[in-house]
Amino acid sequence: MKGFWNLTSTISFTLSILFLFGYNYEDVSAVPTKHLCRPDQRDALLQFKNEFEVLNSSFAYHLMRHPKTESWRNNSDCCTWEGIKCNVKSGEVIELDLSCSYLGGRENILSSIIDLSYLTFLDLSWNLLSGQIPSSIGNLSHLTHLNLNFNQISEIPSSFGNLNQLTSLDVSINKLNGSFSIALLNLTKSQNMEWLDISNNKIKGQVPGWLWTLPNLTDLNLSNNTFTGFGNSMKHGLSMEQLFASNNNFTGNIPSFICDLRGLSILDLSNNNFSGVIPPCMENLYLTVLSLRQNRLHGGLPENIFVLLTTLDVGHNKLTGKLPKSLIYSFRLEVLNVESNFFNDTFPFWLSSLPQLKILVLRSNAFHGPIDHTSFPKLQIVDISHNHFNGSLPSDYFERWSGMSSLGTTYDQPDEMYMGDSYYQDSMVLMNKGLEMELVRILKIYTALDFSGNKFEGEIPRSIGLLKELHVLNLSNNAFTGHIPSSMGNLTALESLDVSQNQLSGEIPQELGSLSFLSYMNFSHNQLTGLVPGGTQFQRLNCTSFDGNPGLSGPSLDEICRNIHISTPHETPQSEEEEEEEVLSWIAAVIGVIPGIAFGWVIGYILFSYKPEWFINPFARNKRRISSTTTH
Ligand SMILES: *[C@@H]1O[C@H](CO)[C@@H](O)[C@H](O)[C@H]1NC(C)=O
Ligand SMILES: *[C@@H]1O[C@H](CO)[C@@H](O)[C@H](O)[C@H]1NC(C)=O
Ligand SMILES: *[C@@H]1O[C@H](CO)[C@@H](O)[C@H](O)[C@H]1NC(C)=O
Ligand SMILES: *[C@@H]1O[C@H](CO)[C@@H](O)[C@H](O)[C@H]1NC(C)=O
Ligand SMILES: *[C@@H]1O[C@H](CO)[C@@H](O)[C@H](O)[C@H]1NC(C)=O
Ligand SMILES: *[C@@H]1O[C@H](CO)[C@@H](O)[C@H](O)[C@H]1NC(C)=O
Ligand SMILES: *[C@@H]1O[C@H](CO)[C@@H](O)[C@H](O)[C@H]1NC(C)=O
Ligand SMILES: *[C@@H]1O[C@H](CO)[C@@H](O)[C@H](O)[C@H]1NC(C)=O
Ligand SMILES: *[C@@H]1O[C@H](CO)[C@@H](O)[C@H](O)[C@H]1NC(C)=O
Ligand SMILES: *[C@@H]1O[C@H](CO)[C@@H](O)[C@H](O)[C@H]1NC(C)=O
Ligand SMILES: *[C@@H]1O[C@H](CO)[C@@H](O)[C@H](O)[C@H]1NC(C)=O
Ligand SMILES: *[C@@H]1O[C@H](CO)[C@@H](O)[C@H](O)[C@H]1NC(C)=O
Repeated sequence: MKGFWNLTSTISFTLSILFLFGYNYEDVSAVPTKHLCRPDQRDALLQFKNEFEVLNSSFAYHLMRHPKTESWRNNSDCCTWEGIKCNVKSGEVIELDLSCSYLGGRENILSSIIDLSYLTFLDLSWNLLSGQIPSSIGNLSHLTHLNLNFNQISEIPSSFGNLNQLTSLDVSINKLNGSFSIALLNLTKSQNMEWLDISNNKIKGQVPGWLWTLPNLTDLNLSNNTFTGFGNSMKHGLSMEQLFASNNNFTGNIPSFICDLRGLSILDLSNNNFSGVIPPCMENLYLTVLSLRQNRLHGGLPENIFVLLTTLDVGHNKLTGKLPKSLIYSFRLEVLNVESNFFNDTFPFWLSSLPQLKILVLRSNAFHGPIDHTSFPKLQIVDISHNHFNGSLPSDYFERWSGMSSLGTTYDQPDEMYMGDSYYQDSMVLMNKGLEMELVRILKIYTALDFSGNKFEGEIPRSIGLLKELHVLNLSNNAFTGHIPSSMGNLTALESLDVSQNQLSGEIPQELGSLSFLSYMNFSHNQLTGLVPGGTQFQRLNCTSFDGNPGLSGPSLDEICRNIHISTPHETPQSEEEEEEEVLSWIAAVIGVIPGIAFGWVIGYILFSYKPEWFINPFARNKRRISSTTTH
């Protein structure tokens, strides 16, 4: 991402220099200007511009972009026009970036592109192109990078096969349909292809075998189509490093040819219908990210699990058995998510030797036994809810959980703020404020502890007050007794607290009223007594948060519960709206606790998480494109 920013700033700097230079040159010299741009190239560009319709597009508008072609005027040097890059010696136009430029197609769009035959780089992403891409595009024989991401293209011409210099092709988020070979043609001639993204279309059928014969293909994104199978196994694809195939309709066993992709580092097969067992031969791979989430896999995890893993997500399958002890050697592991399976094991204490482990999700399995004597130096999100853990927690229990007591880091670059790397972002579902919330990307500063739905007993450890960075605490649905520790008043980052359905007694600590981010609390179904504290944090709560505690009383409670029977006829839409507001204000609260993070990135996070699909990809995509241009 750093590279991306450096590059964009360099480009815009260079452009402005060129621009200024162009102006000065024209102003100062009275003689006819000598343009770098070749006249034939200029005329082709102007004609190209005229072929498009500039349509209002709400996304471009909301991203505050303007049509780049606006600056294209016949009387200035076309090499200074926005989105254009020329060969500095010959004046040939070699790069054309018209992303997000409100371009809609009439008939015959792009026909004049033939005259821009020196192009190596063409970016028409984030426009409104529809229908078939004209076959003239196949004449751009020098093209190495082509980005058509986010349009409404439904067909690609067979002349595409002539683009045999392509190293990167992005046709994701379009309307390509039909089977693969029909929709995408035969790219076997593109022997240089390194990066291919056809995600988010409606392509169906088998993944064609020839894809694996492209010798230089390292990154392949097939996500979010309706592929059903991988076709015949291939003894190729040896250079494949990143394979994304989530959100398709793959069925049957995971093909064992995957094990032959020896360079594979990231494998994402999540959200498919794979059944059968995880192929044991996968032990031979050196994966850093493996996501098999949301399939129908059964059996156990491979005994010798992948030593280089940073992320292992096998949540929402039908896996059984124990966690393999070999995970101890995955010393880079940051995320382990096995939620919603049938693992039957004791608490994996031995994971505490993993120095990088930040997220541990054992939710909804058959884990059992006590969990005392654990210490997780870096753990930031731990969700062991809905298992059969029991026993009590010693009062100093949280003293060794330093990951939640101080983070001590700020992140300047947006990518560093999220779990995962720039290509794979970890996501998870978490109960927050009584709502199931999907964290599309996980903020690194986010910390949560969910022990709910087990059989823990005894007192809530006083040392909980040390987890000063904790945002979400859920201890509900256990058998905790005793008082709510007043040390919770030290959890200054806390936003959501749920201790419902325990056997807690005594008073609700006044100290909670001073936690300024705390906007959700649930104390229901305990044996709490005394006065409900006053103050705005409490006043905002739902009366149901105090249900089932007959001993609670006081003016504050009366106030909270006063309006309980007055419900409006439009309750559903209204509460949905409130819910969204809730989420936004929760994130606003997060903003408050991260010094040094640019506002825009947090807003970005909101969009990433809660806004429509089309907001999700521009940065990731542009970033990838730019980084691939910087490599040559
Ligand atoms: C641009 O201007 C030149 C003369 O300055 C003219 O010959 C040419 O036809 C013009 N091109 C277009 C596309 O208008
Ligand atoms: C373009 O669309 C946006 C959002 O839909 C709208 O606010 C704006 O007024 C439109 N602009 C024009 C010139 O129609
Ligand atoms: C474009 O390519 C086709 C073959 O794909 C060829 O027949 C045609 O002459 C080319 N056009 C130009 C202007 O080069
Ligand atoms: C593909 O999409 C086009 C236009 O949207 C439609 O006419 C055609 O029937 C679709 N083909 C298939 C196989 O679904
Ligand atoms: C792709 O092209 C190769 C070589 O031209 C040919 O052998 C193969 O049958 C083609 N495959 C498809 C699916 O068109
Ligand atoms: C593949 O990559 C290698 C090294 O990166 C390069 O030398 C070669 O030209 C590329 N193309 C083919 C077809 O192997
Ligand atoms: C997959 O595509 C559908 C539309 O075809 C879209 O609604 C959905 O958000 C996409 N999912 C992902 C993960 O991109
Ligand atoms: C996915 O496959 C199942 C059967 O294997 C089928 O019933 C379902 O319609 C398919 N879904 C799509 C979107 O093609
Ligand atoms: C877990 O395994 C033990 C035996 O190893 C068995 O007694 C117990 O019933 C299992 N628990 C569940 C929930 O399957
Ligand atoms: C792959 O495609 C999916 C769906 O379009 C997208 O969410 C994801 O970011 C893509 N991955 C990469 C590495 O580009
Ligand atoms: C809260 O933290 C302060 C220091 O950070 C400490 O002195 C105080 O004892 C703590 N209070 C409780 C109730 O743990
Ligand atoms: C209070 O919570 C209950 C259950 O979660 C919900 O049904 C109700 O609508 C909430 N009331 C208000 C006023 O938010």
